[in-house]
Amino acid sequence: MKLTVGLLFGGRSVENEISVVTALQTLESMDKEKYDVVPIYIAKSGKWYSGEALLTVANYRDMKKLLDGTPEVYMRPVYGDRNLYKVKTGLLGSPVLATLDVVLPTLHGTNCEDGTLQGVLTSTGVPFVGCNTLASANGMDKITMKMILKECGIPVVDYFWFNDKEWYADKDAVTARLEAKIPYPVIVKPANSGSSVGIKAAHNTAEFVEAVDYAASFTTRIIVERLVTRLKEVNCSVMGNYNDCEASVCEVPLRSGEILSYQDKYMRGGGSKGAKGGARSVGGVKSASAGESEGMRSTLREIPAKLQEGETERIQQLARETFRALACDGLSRIDFIIDEEDRSIYVNEINTIPGSLSSYLWEASGRKFPEVIDALIAQAFARSREESFKVTDFGGNIFAAMPAGGGSKM
Ligand SMILES: Nc1ncnc2c1ncn2[C@@H]1O[C@H](COP(=O)(O)OP(=O)(O)O)[C@@H](O)[C@H]1O
Ligand SMILES: [Mg+2]
Repeated sequence: MKLTVGLLFGGRSVENEISVVTALQTLESMDKEKYDVVPIYIAKSGKWYSGEALLTVANYRDMKKLLDGTPEVYMRPVYGDRNLYKVKTGLLGSPVLATLDVVLPTLHGTNCEDGTLQGVLTSTGVPFVGCNTLASANGMDKITMKMILKECGIPVVDYFWFNDKEWYADKDAVTARLEAKIPYPVIVKPANSGSSVGIKAAHNTAEFVEAVDYAASFTTRIIVERLVTRLKEVNCSVMGNYNDCEASVCEVPLRSGEILSYQDKYMRGGGSKGAKGGARSVGGVKSASAGESEGMRSTLREIPAKLQEGETERIQQLARETFRALACDGLSRIDFIIDEEDRSIYVNEINTIPGSLSSYLWEASGRKFPEVIDALIAQAFARSREESFKVTDFGGNIFAAMPAGGGSKM
């Protein structure tokens, strides 16, 4: 029997477009003999849409036309209701567009990767791929994530954090607190950013003030870290659950400037239009060949990463420990920084729904991506089954013990 899979993408996030690319790449790797795929696109407005037209990337050029011609849909946060409903139905038509067996989220960033949607899906009871609400939320907030990793003895660079209200109330005081803790240069980030949005390096007080004003325009929580000036970035994907997981080969994404930018991540590899194809090699460095339409696959990268003796194994081990510490599920990518001054290795961040679902890392690890997707979907069902065995009601009725005619005081 075929499974009906809701492929959820888009979202109220600055990474909406990247998510379209991830979703369409994922769709390409899904076995159509096994799965009926129902595309569900969350527009930047927050409205949900479902229809075949969402599966053609060229249609996104004219967003208004695409959405005007695509049915608006919704799910109800009612446990056990796995239906996708049409907002508008004809007089006699059924309001149910599809009944989902499982949902595969391929969205990135705020409102998407941070537990928000995972909470909605959990409320419906539909099995879904990837991290639950807790792991997603912890993984998204760079402050909370670093606190947990530090507590677990996993190395992270020195950091300092504050919120926007503290900043606007007394910029001098916050600056003095930072300067007492971390020497310049530093890097200032919105705690919940992604795709390098809102991030700036600062080499002195004036640049720091400017960088914080900029970061605070994106979010309320701000993290400042020691800027590692001679660094090598290494990424490693992990798949499995909090109890049993495996790490992929490592990659080194290549930067054009001081920090790995949005352009480096999504817009560098080769030409800008649609040529499909596998990885290509640029002087020993591999990248996909389809430019901006290829999302994370278009990053120029070295794969597998050429590192010093033992570093790959150490990174893979720390990647698994990070996945476990954050209670992850499904597939994540953990990003590392190697400080080339002393070869210290630090976890920089986790992406619980990584660009292109890190397909290129798994393919380079000898895993066919359609099989990876099969495993992720099987795992979504397994988790849902395990959760159904947990007690959610211990049969007590506190109201039954109340004296008859008693007041409403507890
Ligand atoms: N502590 C640091 N020192 C030096 N460069 C950093 C540091 N943290 C981040 N960067 C650079 O900034 C980029 C984006 O930061 P990151 O924390 O990964 O945020 P995002 O979630 O936006 O990807 C990194 O890929 C790296 O190039
Ligand atoms: Mg990053």
